Amino acid sequence: MKLLVTGGAGFIGSNFVHHVLREHPEDEVVVLDLLTYAGNLENLKEAERNPRYRFVKGDIADSEVVDPLVAECDAVVHFAAESHVDRSIIEPAAFVRTNVIGTQVLLDAARNHRGKRFHHVSTDEVFGALGPNDAPFSEVTPYDPRSPYSASKAGSDHLVRAYFHTYGLPVTISNCSNNYGPYHFPEKLIPLSITNLLEGKNVPVYGDGKQVRDWLHVEDHCRAIDLVLRKGGIGETYCVGGNGERENIDIVRTLLDILGQSEDRIEYVKDRPGHDRRYAIDFSKIRNELGWEPSVTLDEGLRQTVEWFKAHEEWWKDVKSGTYREYYDRQYGE
Ligand code: NAD
Ligand code: DAU
Repeated sequence: MKLLVTGGAGFIGSNFVHHVLREHPEDEVVVLDLLTYAGNLENLKEAERNPRYRFVKGDIADSEVVDPLVAECDAVVHFAAESHVDRSIIEPAAFVRTNVIGTQVLLDAARNHRGKRFHHVSTDEVFGALGPNDAPFSEVTPYDPRSPYSASKAGSDHLVRAYFHTYGLPVTISNCSNNYGPYHFPEKLIPLSITNLLEGKNVPVYGDGKQVRDWLHVEDHCRAIDLVLRKGGIGETYCVGGNGERENIDIVRTLLDILGQSEDRIEYVKDRPGHDRRYAIDFSKIRNELGWEPSVTLDEGLRQTVEWFKAHEEWWKDVKSGTYREYYDRQYGE
């Protein structure tokens, strides 16, 4: 297969590119990425010399860029998005533009060139928030997004379904819980905590720190997407989760423990507005139908991730200081 991977220079997209090039020696990958603050060509450096890989800088909302790329591929795997909830609270417009309009432009291109498989990477946040005793989210949970980010992702999910029902586009959707692992951008809880601790700084914990997230190692998410892309039922949605429900404060304490640091590093700060209390995922459908389940336990995954950040200090220091931008500004003359 020839895959068009949108957002392939981001956290999960870059892990997916490496996964496909490693696991599918016949496949070719074209990455389309705008290189926003979250996109980093360093994430794709390992792939640079691979003749089965190509990078195109461009905007998914620009049909002139998107159309010829969709025409030449067999399948679109759509990661590109504005992905950070806190940023969506400050600047919702960018989220609507990329996540909603960008998805519609891609879908139109797939519709124009019949027969293209379209896999849409989405999030558990579209389902809203759970109470402590509520059943986990599943494929039949009604949508109830509560931040500009999750509302824009819900909009994109609805568009993908609409293109299946209205135009017969061969689509699939996956809704996944919180990922962590290599190349995770250090504005998110786990990489921010690890890198702050490595720098001798405090970790900001929002509110009482008792919000619950379900954590999945990014490589397990990539395996799930790959499986749905190749074996998933057309028009189907799959919920993907990690069996890794933890309170934020427990995640921070585990990281302190791994790094041998004291609880003095915890700094309780003002809560996120509209902060969702709990997410959890029932992933029985993908387990029963496609045989997928998480392979990395949260404790092991966190240890591996701390080791990765220790071994890739230059990567995260460049990201935190903004230096990584110079690398692609040079390449693209900006
Ligand atoms: P990320 O922010 O790390 O990466 C997003 C990538 O998209 C970046 O490389 C960025 O440059 C690119 N991009 C942004 N706007 C673009 C545009 N207009 N045109 C082309 N490229 C553009 O995000 P991530 O954490 O890797 O998430 C990837 C996808 O997975 C998103 O759709 C997100 O909603 C979804 N998701 C993320 C998680 C998670 O825990 N991070 C969990 C479930 C689902
Ligand atoms: O659930 C899947 C979603 O997970 C994805 O769709 C999003 O793209 C991804 O960013 C992530 O969203 P969250 O808001 O859950 O992730 P974040 O790492 O920003 O926050 C995790 C939890 O930690 C959340 O309850 C807020 C809290 N938090 C976050 C930061 C950045 C803190 O307490 N302190 C922090 O500094």
